[in-house]
Amino acid sequence: MFTRVEPGSASLSGGNVLDFEGSPVPFRSGDSVAAALLAAGVSPLRETPVDQSPRAPYCMMGVCFECLVEIDGRQNQQSCLTRACPGMIIKRQHGARTLR
Ligand code: FES
Repeated sequence: MFTRVEPGSASLSGGNVLDFEGSPVPFRSGDSVAAALLAAGVSPLRETPVDQSPRAPYCMMGVCFECLVEIDGRQNQQSCLTRACPGMIIKRQHGARTLR
């Protein structure tokens, strides 16, 4: 569905790999978490709290909040504004964040 503007793709051998729900996702240096996941074909990233509708990144600039995910155990993280780092553990967000 999404393709990168520049040719080529990220590879698992480069060391830039994050974990999305147990699966390795390669990314390029400078990618946001949302860009890395979309380039890998991952979508949707969350479900709404009211009716569990699937949502995916839309604006890619921090406005719409459709890209919320759990990053390293922290919920409600805007994946479009978070730079991907090796070893990050990303999970879909189902509904509203939980209060601890
Ligand atoms: S995609 Fe809109 S805030 Fe992240």
